[in-house]
Amino acid sequence: MLILAIDTSCDETSAAVSRDDHILSSVVYSQIEVHKKWGGVVPSLARINHEQNIDNVINIAFNRIKKNQKSKIKNQKFGKITLNDIDAVAVTVGPGLAIALEVGIRKAKEICEKFNKKFIAVNHMEGHLLSAFIKAESKIKNQKSKIKNKEDIANIENLNFPGVGVLISGGHTQIVKVNAIGKYEILGDTLDDAAGEAFDKVAKMLELGYPGGEIVEQLAKDGEPIYQLPIPMLKSHDYNFSFSGLKTAAMYFLRNYSGVKDKQFISDFCASFQFVLIDSIRRKLEKCLTDYPARIACGKALAGGPANFILCGGGVMNNLAIRKMIRQTAKKFGIPAYFPEKKYNSDNAAMIALAGFYKAKRNEFVRDINKVDRLPNWEIDDPIKN
Ligand code: KG4
Ligand code: ZN
Repeated sequence: MLILAIDTSCDETSAAVSRDDHILSSVVYSQIEVHKKWGGVVPSLARINHEQNIDNVINIAFNRIKKNQKSKIKNQKFGKITLNDIDAVAVTVGPGLAIALEVGIRKAKEICEKFNKKFIAVNHMEGHLLSAFIKAESKIKNQKSKIKNKEDIANIENLNFPGVGVLISGGHTQIVKVNAIGKYEILGDTLDDAAGEAFDKVAKMLELGYPGGEIVEQLAKDGEPIYQLPIPMLKSHDYNFSFSGLKTAAMYFLRNYSGVKDKQFISDFCASFQFVLIDSIRRKLEKCLTDYPARIACGKALAGGPANFILCGGGVMNNLAIRKMIRQTAKKFGIPAYFPEKKYNSDNAAMIALAGFYKAKRNEFVRDINKVDRLPNWEIDDPIKN
């Protein structure tokens, strides 16, 4: 099955073309430069930029197929793939910024109507959850030659359900039970700010620039976590997160600090903030993995036994300290942790193509595209009926 995938959920305009579970090309046009000067994503500017770039991004996605696939697969004329040849369009319908989502959905509808194609409505967070399984040519080559530990090569066919997903992005911080591909339950969620948002806000307080996560991580590498900030949700018995208290504590700490705010101070402060944020995620993940065999969580019955794997996704997974913590936690519980390739941590349409392919396999096409609307708050465990 040939799929064109589109994601315009936030500030990246992206398109990808896939054949079954294999990505033929993936294009991401980042609008960071546009939003940087405002210190965050401005929805109206995101919409305008998506509108200006969507056609171009889709064209480049098709044009790149030939280059990527040339002579790698015999007897297939990849250079000839056009909108006419695809079977379906998979598009993010939520969660995300309503007026940004709207651009991708409108484009997908237009293509489906003009070329008589099927429409697949994809949840952005399911895309992040499955992004460790994205198979591109380069990855398959690398896996053969470089990766020694076969256990940690993500392959859907090898998965022993259930497992847990850890989704950490600019808008979400969630622990999700993965019963099967397409069957999820949110076990823990953020009660206020998401982890990526907290990184961005601390960076803003320190006037480090936007987006702040990567900058804070780089500075933290040169610092030590010597300042005490409160570990969020220390006493809560659920798997939820909260980062707004940490953000406020960071703000007061900075306001009241009377010493010199030199480079070393900033680095130590970033290291302290990052340490506490990661420790809070570690505690909840460990709690979840410990409780699993008990089959009871937040009053929900957990059918199916212990978690057999951890699936990671979302922009904050770029953070090497978070990856290290999750790897160590997985090791402690004797299960594999699967991470996306670096370029698929942040928003991209390749992950939407993959989630779309599994929906297509389950025959979950939209029946009436006129009824499709953006779902800015669509939760991953909420099935939609179109
Ligand atoms: O998944 P994503 O690209 O977009 C959303 O769907 O939200 O995530 C973006 C978030 C931003 O908040 C950004 O600061 C954060 O991911 N981020 C990081 C790092 N790289 C990106 N946070 C911490 N450390 C990083 N290295
Ligand atoms: Zn995202």
